[in-house]
Amino acid sequence: MNNEDLLRRSLASVWHPCTQMKSHETLPLVPIARGEGAWLIDFEGNRYLDAVSSWWVNLFGHGNPRINAALKAQLDTLEHVILAGFTHQPVVELSERLAALTGLGHAFYGSDGASATEIALKMSFHYWRNTGRPEKTRFISLQNSYHGETLGALSVTDVALFKDTYAPLLQQSTQVPSPDWRLAEPGETPETYARRCAAALEYWLQEHHAETAAFIVEPMVQAAAGMGMYHAIYLTLARELCDRYQIHLIADEIAVGFGRTGTLFACEQAGIKPDFICLSKGITGGYLPLSAVLTTNEVYAAFYDDSVARGFLHSHSYTGNALACRAALATLDIFADDDVINANRQRAAQFNALFTPLQQHPAVRNFRHLGMIWAFEVASDDPHFARSFYLSALKRSLLLRPISTTVYFMPPYVLTPQEMQQLAHGVIDILNESVTI
Ligand SMILES: Cc1ncc(COP(=O)(O)O)c(C=O)c1O
Repeated sequence: MNNEDLLRRSLASVWHPCTQMKSHETLPLVPIARGEGAWLIDFEGNRYLDAVSSWWVNLFGHGNPRINAALKAQLDTLEHVILAGFTHQPVVELSERLAALTGLGHAFYGSDGASATEIALKMSFHYWRNTGRPEKTRFISLQNSYHGETLGALSVTDVALFKDTYAPLLQQSTQVPSPDWRLAEPGETPETYARRCAAALEYWLQEHHAETAAFIVEPMVQAAAGMGMYHAIYLTLARELCDRYQIHLIADEIAVGFGRTGTLFACEQAGIKPDFICLSKGITGGYLPLSAVLTTNEVYAAFYDDSVARGFLHSHSYTGNALACRAALATLDIFADDDVINANRQRAAQFNALFTPLQQHPAVRNFRHLGMIWAFEVASDDPHFARSFYLSALKRSLLLRPISTTVYFMPPYVLTPQEMQQLAHGVIDILNESVTI
């Protein structure tokens, strides 16, 4: 196998995600033969630093020896078994550990993030139906939110490019103002702005709470909106409002869970417990597709009945896959054994110091950081900024995928200061070369 051969065959047979395939007439597809730590390597030995953790999933590097070993052992025991009517050790252990970590005692499994969103929305709606409130059918989400691409998830997503084409197929949902501090008025602090957005949420709930089932929110960071960060007070106030108006709060921690924002779960920063938490991406350390929705005893009890129809009859064939659960357990072991949350705090402080020259670059706007996420906007009038930047980064052995003019780093937690230095220097070079201010 060589690069050229794989590219030709891929373009002939694979329909790549989130891609206008014609763009590959001029945009090279990147063949990857293997992964090693933070690096992706092609058949000719070219290396790319995976500064986006392969779509925000990888936590402890590619080919991590500890996750590999856990998976190899699991392979020799049980690869998969139907989870309806049957159970197995990895899924039980994982559910117990996630319950202890989230305070939500019942775990329902899906495969990708979008399937977790679907599960949470359906469960919330069904809960209200089972408890005599069938009129509660509406969902609200934040402006510029992203919750996945399946029809239910897309209904609560607010990204026009992904959503508008499918509008006739989608459920109505309402978007309330986003507390993303980039949207604040000049002179307004992130906290004041977050409080103003919470007031807007309350205004909406006063009128519509009776027909609203749930508010779904990406806690602390709206990742697909270009790493829009916001003040934790918004979540604290949203929790209070959801309690007061009897609305479920669904925390979509698919992108931000598992240490990304500096705490194991982002909700911890606001001291709140959601009614549902959606987890995926980093849950398996970036190894295998797995998602989980955890919820309260109260929600669980509303489905527990002699009537089959009052149960949650949702299913996916690979629900609770044993290999994926084992990868998730190995990932949780690494968090515990290596005290990853504290280690990341030190790592991030070191990286922040390395990023000072970048932060001070004249083309850089809104430089921001939370946990293991860094982002900034670039003052550029290039309509193809994201594509040009991506290509320039590849030439410097960096995998970076700007969102519009937002450049962000979401690296695996194993990145060394040298690698981070290489990233910072590479990005400054690109800015110096391509951006005229
Ligand atoms: C916050 C959030 N929710 C849901 C999803 C959808 O996850 P998946 O792509 O695994 O379906 C994503 C993916 O980026 C996400 O960032």
